[in-house]
Amino acid sequence: MNILVTGGAGYIGSHTCVALLEAGYSVIVADNLCNGKEETLNKVKQLTNKDLTFYEIDVTDDIAVNTIFSKHEIDGVIHFAGLKAVGESVERPLTYYNNNVVSTMVLAKACLTYGVNRFVFSSSATVYGDNKVPFIETMDLLPTTNPYGETKAMSERILTDIVKANPAFSVSLLRYFNPVGAHESGLIGEAPNGIPNNLMPYVTQVAKGKLEKLSVFGNDYPTVDGTGVRDYIHVMDLAEGHVVALDHLTEGVHVYNLGTGQGTSVLELVNAFEEANGIKVPYEIVERRPGDIASFYADASKAKRELGWTAKRDVIAMCRDAWRFEKNYME
Ligand code: NAD
Ligand code: WQD
Repeated sequence: MNILVTGGAGYIGSHTCVALLEAGYSVIVADNLCNGKEETLNKVKQLTNKDLTFYEIDVTDDIAVNTIFSKHEIDGVIHFAGLKAVGESVERPLTYYNNNVVSTMVLAKACLTYGVNRFVFSSSATVYGDNKVPFIETMDLLPTTNPYGETKAMSERILTDIVKANPAFSVSLLRYFNPVGAHESGLIGEAPNGIPNNLMPYVTQVAKGKLEKLSVFGNDYPTVDGTGVRDYIHVMDLAEGHVVALDHLTEGVHVYNLGTGQGTSVLELVNAFEEANGIKVPYEIVERRPGDIASFYADASKAKRELGWTAKRDVIAMCRDAWRFEKNYME
């Protein structure tokens, strides 16, 4: 089966390409390389000893997208391509709405035109807003505080409406919690441009000596130790979740949380990193980061019940694998 993976040269997409190739799928990647590297795809091939097809295109470009659909017999689409920096989305809303929402519409339209009925979408736990924890798929979505989150909520609604009008179309909306870590080989992983916004890449860069110390954003939240709690999920568990979601896809819209169901505080993550890798991570407590919420984690029971999927790798494995990648990574 041929799967079109948009954003396959990026962080989660590249790990999912590995999982798909290992599961026997053929992979066609469409990526404009705005935040991905062709070199990563070479590493995917090296890791799996399998080939894949790569198109350097923008997936908001319907002519370019249609060219791929007309050249290949595509059986399903996994749509990762998107911009994901929350702060940047506040400064450049049009760029975010255009990139993340138009791409979803262009791809869905191509699917309908070419009779492709399987569509897996990268959504985010951010669509739950400030709901009560644990977040469960049946909750009403609350407004998010930034355009990035809105692009995910809008894409979910657009895909849901398309299914209502086209009952043969099958969509899986996967709401990721906090993806971290890297492939066990250390060959592919997360390599953000500039100073990282997210906790784990910040920690690995402090451990490497690229950054002096971690700023812990607040220790006065109502949590186990006052620092923010999140549901970190190993990127390979997430990647495998996509393969399972694709395998199980049936008509209609299916929403799944992909998380572990376990909350970990910032200081617990720092301690786990130090324990896993025997390296100190200097930190200081600073003010809360505006827009952060105290704590969120998944109710992960639906994916287990319906897909038979649960995350297998623990926080120590996430820290070990994230560090193995960072240690070897050369910009
Ligand atoms: P990433 O930036 O590493 O990967 C995204 C890839 O998409 C990049 O390779 C980029 O070059 C490509 N891309 C972006 N816009 C494109 C376009 N218009 N046409 C073609 N290619 C384009 O990000 P990631 O962390 O791998 O995230 C993948 C998806 O998962 C995104 O949709 C993101 O919003 C979503 N997501 C990520 C997280 C997270 O914390 N990493 C959490 C929840 C959801
Ligand atoms: C985790 C915890 C911070 C950095 C973001 C997006 C979300 C999703 C995942 C895409 C929080 C604390 C962080 C630092 C810190 N992305 N922290 N010092 O904010 O949960 O989610 O990425 O969909 O939409 O908002 O992740 O890694 O930034 O923060 O203390 O230098 O670490 O306050 O408690 P977040 P994060």
